[in-house]
Amino acid sequence: MKILLLDGTIIGRKTGAILEQVEQYIKEFDTNLEIEQLHLADFDHQFVDGRPFDQYNDDMKKLVKTIEEADGYILATPIFQGSIPGVLKNTFDFLHPKALRYKPVSIVANGGTYQHHLVVENQLKPILDYFRALVTPNYVYTHAGHFDKENKIIDENVHERLREMARVFVKYCELSKNLPKETIDQH
Ligand SMILES: Cc1cc2nc3c(=O)[nH]c(=O)nc-3n(C[C@H](O)[C@H](O)[C@H](O)COP(=O)(O)O)c2cc1C
Repeated sequence: MKILLLDGTIIGRKTGAILEQVEQYIKEFDTNLEIEQLHLADFDHQFVDGRPFDQYNDDMKKLVKTIEEADGYILATPIFQGSIPGVLKNTFDFLHPKALRYKPVSIVANGGTYQHHLVVENQLKPILDYFRALVTPNYVYTHAGHFDKENKIIDENVHERLREMARVFVKYCELSKNLPKETIDQH
């Protein structure tokens, strides 16, 4: 299975740093997963504006293809204005409604404060529910105090939670592998 570690921002370093750590933990539990990191910052973004898909630039085509071809995701996002970055929402808007169906997803989020951890519950999870992704019950929310100056995670509790999330995520990968993506209904 191909697992995409998706860094959902074009500014900042912490989400990328969390993904580096998650990659190590996933490998502790499953060495067979093919893991790829994808940073939205590496793409020349265009807004979804209704034009035919073949008229978007090559970066957008590559981004959508890479996401849609993956079999599972660790999704990392910072909190912006009590929500997710616009560039991440715009990326979701590009995807086919069935692109994430029954695929495992775990979420890591970083905010400047503790107060916005429920953004994951209230805003990100509903989008993933729309896609009918297999979202693990574990997600990890971090804030500035969990990192040192080099953006290394220094909070042991965060490490434990990331490790547990990785443990559950690889089990969700097995579930997804055995769950045919063809549906009985037409929806
Ligand atoms: C435009 C913008 C809006 C932000 N809004 C929030 C917010 O509503 N709540 C919050 O906790 N942090 C907010 N932050 C802080 C970011 O979540 C935080 O800076 C980021 O996760 C830290 O990553 P970095 O150190 O890698 O930049 C905001 C940051 C920016 C740039």
